[in-house]
Amino acid sequence: MGLPFPYSNFKLVDSHNRLIHKLRISLLDACNMNCLYCMPDEKEFMAKKSWVSGEELCEISSKLVVYGIDEIRLTGGEPLLRPDFRKIVNGLDKLPLSKFGLTTNGIHLERELEFLKGTSLKYLNISLDSLNKENFEKITQTDTFARVYHSIVKAHSMGFKVKVNAVLLKGINDNEEELDKFVEFAQKTGIEVRFLELMRIGVANHYFEKHFVSAGEIIERLKLKNQLKDKKMPKDSTSFNFFLSKGGEIGFIASESRPFCGHCSRLRLGADGALRPCLFIDQGVSLRGLKAEDFLKTLKQTIKLKPFDRIDTVGQAMHQIGG
Ligand code: 5AD
Ligand code: SF4
Repeated sequence: MGLPFPYSNFKLVDSHNRLIHKLRISLLDACNMNCLYCMPDEKEFMAKKSWVSGEELCEISSKLVVYGIDEIRLTGGEPLLRPDFRKIVNGLDKLPLSKFGLTTNGIHLERELEFLKGTSLKYLNISLDSLNKENFEKITQTDTFARVYHSIVKAHSMGFKVKVNAVLLKGINDNEEELDKFVEFAQKTGIEVRFLELMRIGVANHYFEKHFVSAGEIIERLKLKNQLKDKKMPKDSTSFNFFLSKGGEIGFIASESRPFCGHCSRLRLGADGALRPCLFIDQGVSLRGLKAEDFLKTLKQTIKLKPFDRIDTVGQAMHQIGG
């Protein structure tokens, strides 16, 4: 059998021998939610003219695929706010990816499901910080619970691989009733629920002391009522998961108490075309308009900057960096 196309002898292996093969693309930094821990009161979004065009984004991505990127996830801000979202998905759909996914807040997801069904984008991570309507709306500062919930259930029923992300905040959505509801939801629907530790990013730095709750604490509390069975995960998985004895699965992304940076396999492309080595490094180098050798040089320089240990904090907000 011939070599798969496209192919390059140079693969993205960093100085810690990590194979870099995943790419997160932030399509824009704007969002239609105002999650307490993410969106600052005073916000300034990138000017639209600074966005990489859909065409250029697909071109950059196809070059990255040559060097071994085989998983792409679209993020934001809220990626579904990008007017050329479908064009971008159609462009990336042509690439030989083993996994193509989207992280969304779900507000506009339902209208895209039929379209997405006809593409190779099958992996949907949807934020749902609470199954209690009032609490959800307090955290996101929107009144969108019903439509987000509905889009999650619908996407699952249409065969998408759906995961629900819930950032747990002490004193807000980490109480027993909330945890019970999430467990029941995971059991009943078969949709994986992942609890995210609050990370010290942007405005979350101000919430951290008061509202951080560790995965360890949540696991101890869940174990009082549920049997949790370890699931074997890939080495570069961001989450560690448990099967619930009554069916379903829950996971934890414990970026603060159990950072997974040592096994990180990701690069990040910003809405402005800047390539960044890590969620916690807000400086990047633009890949726009680079000739082949400069493109490769930039790639090599960027992966050299990938840290091995978790960097404490970053000032830039999550909506700017892309989750
Ligand atoms: N800590 C943890 N998760 C965060 N998210 C946004 N900001 C933070 C933070 N500071 C989550 C969103 C979404 C995912 C992309 O990242 O809620 O689920
Ligand atoms: Fe928007 Fe996601 Fe930030 Fe919430 S966490 S404000 S949904 S970008």
